[in-house]
Amino acid sequence: MCGIVGYIGNREAAPILLDGLSKLEYRGYDSAGIAVYNGEQIQMEKTMGRLKVLEELTQDGATLPGTAGIGHTRWATHGSPSDLNAHPHFNKDHSIVVVHNGIIENYIKLKKKLQAKGYEFLSETDTEVIVHMLDRYYNGDPLDTITKVMHRMEGSYALGIMFRDHPNEIYAVRKDSPLIVGAGKEGNLIASDVPAILRYTRDVYFIENEEIVKLTREGLHFYNIDEEELEKESTHIDWDINAAEKGGYEHFMLKEMHEQPKAVRDTLTPRLKGDEIVIEELGMTDEEIRSVRKIFIVACGSAYHTGVTAKYVFEGLARIPVEVDLASEFRYRNPILESDSLVIIVSQSGETADTLAALREAKAKGIRTLGIVNVVGSSIAREADNVMYTWAGPEIAVATTKAYSTQLIAHYLLALKFARVRGTISETEFTAMTEDLRQLPEQISLLLSHKENVQRFANRYLAAEHIFFIGRGIDYAISMEGSLKLKEISYIHSEAYAAGELKHGTISLIEDGRLVVAVLTQPELYKKTISNIQEVKTRGAFVMAVTTVGNTEVEKVADYVIYLPETNPYFTNSLAIIPLQLFGYYVSIGRGLDVDKPRNLAKSVTVE
Ligand code: G6P
Repeated sequence: MCGIVGYIGNREAAPILLDGLSKLEYRGYDSAGIAVYNGEQIQMEKTMGRLKVLEELTQDGATLPGTAGIGHTRWATHGSPSDLNAHPHFNKDHSIVVVHNGIIENYIKLKKKLQAKGYEFLSETDTEVIVHMLDRYYNGDPLDTITKVMHRMEGSYALGIMFRDHPNEIYAVRKDSPLIVGAGKEGNLIASDVPAILRYTRDVYFIENEEIVKLTREGLHFYNIDEEELEKESTHIDWDINAAEKGGYEHFMLKEMHEQPKAVRDTLTPRLKGDEIVIEELGMTDEEIRSVRKIFIVACGSAYHTGVTAKYVFEGLARIPVEVDLASEFRYRNPILESDSLVIIVSQSGETADTLAALREAKAKGIRTLGIVNVVGSSIAREADNVMYTWAGPEIAVATTKAYSTQLIAHYLLALKFARVRGTISETEFTAMTEDLRQLPEQISLLLSHKENVQRFANRYLAAEHIFFIGRGIDYAISMEGSLKLKEISYIHSEAYAAGELKHGTISLIEDGRLVVAVLTQPELYKKTISNIQEVKTRGAFVMAVTTVGNTEVEKVADYVIYLPETNPYFTNSLAIIPLQLFGYYVSIGRGLDVDKPRNLAKSVTVE
């Protein structure tokens, strides 16, 4: 999704904007641009394509001198990727310039009104209405002008705005799209996300919906939509700066896969205290935990897949019925939520538009909400009744790996805690399971250390056109994530099937040499899945099996077997996913693809 950066200070703005935008590349984009105020006029360059095209065009920023500017990477929603549709956008006399992330839902109506007043549009974007509206209502007072426009816009927006009449100011505003403000020694900044400004400051302000910020060289002023000045507290970000850099790895995805043992440990250990699971941020008494009658888990993408796994774990251990919903479905299906339901919202970014809307839907119905979120201070983290953070650190690669793994851990901890409080598992089971949890980081490291084997196997399938994943129960949930990982970064068509469902259609697609990845980690289901492997084998499939050490029977039917260390069957997803992530990664790089920034995808999907 679009990325925004802005800077005003003592240094040249353009190089800082280009650097900041490079830290937002992970969000996915198709064009980029910057506008810099040189004291007399606002100059702009924008272009379709990668940031390096913009860097060449501006000689690394040298052609746009000045110490105040705004920049943007665009992920097309309204209008195809093109130079003209790229941001920033100017008003007619180039006295106002805007960058935007989000969607203005009533832009057609606004555009018609503006056209009737003689405004001409150069692009097909919804954003251009914003700059013309600012022009229309401009009265010499930027703050007042911005609030007038805000009252007329529907939809979501984070904006960076500069006015030629106000050379020492940049304005920013947000509604339902992410935006942060950084207070630095050599200047002040805005950005869509923290990594863009970490090099310049660690003191960050999180902007709430409909708040407006005025940035000057000297300081920051915050206002609400009624133009009243607000006091805000900054948050100190103590991430290691290397966490947002590649640190010697060829790709962010590879680095982040290798960070999984640490991320899992960081999410797990502070909550495993002696014989207890302590989740202070849950904010629920034992009595409240006992009174929950139903859990809804709502999320998108891989976060949704952790929810599918969690359903098996919660229902199996804590005996509570669980419904798992895609956020884009949940928000419009009018779900039956009772006062004794708990809605768990899962999101790495904490900004996914559908997930955020689902959270608000649940809150509006007065249902208790719990966020499982990675990005501290993000919208979902702030709006959920309670938030349990996954301590994965910044995740940059579009295809999630370490955030996914930590979300699983959060689910396990919650399910075990609920099971213990509700008395649905014995103390012995509980102790054995917490011991198994403690082993996971080491076991993940072990699997990562065998990555060359997966790479060798992946290299044989670089030309595959279709790859199927099968499994039962929790193994089906793993298959869904393995299949998504593969298709999003390798562009190979892939589907995950509940192994027992194969015969009802998909088996017709099995032919000679077709790769089928079978996951078998659930002892009670081994035999059933082995029968399904036989069914595809007899139709010519080549089978790679992922199973637990000791289950050697599978060697009789599968062509290639990856063994996982032993853990409790409820936790096997945390191990099985490692070779599947590696498989997707090596197929992608073997095909020469941009594994960290796959085409058409965005890390943080802030539009519906
Ligand atoms: C995008 C990302 C996925 C992620 C999904 C949900 O599609 O590429 O990796 O699982 O959004 O994002 P969230 O930030 O809400 O977890």
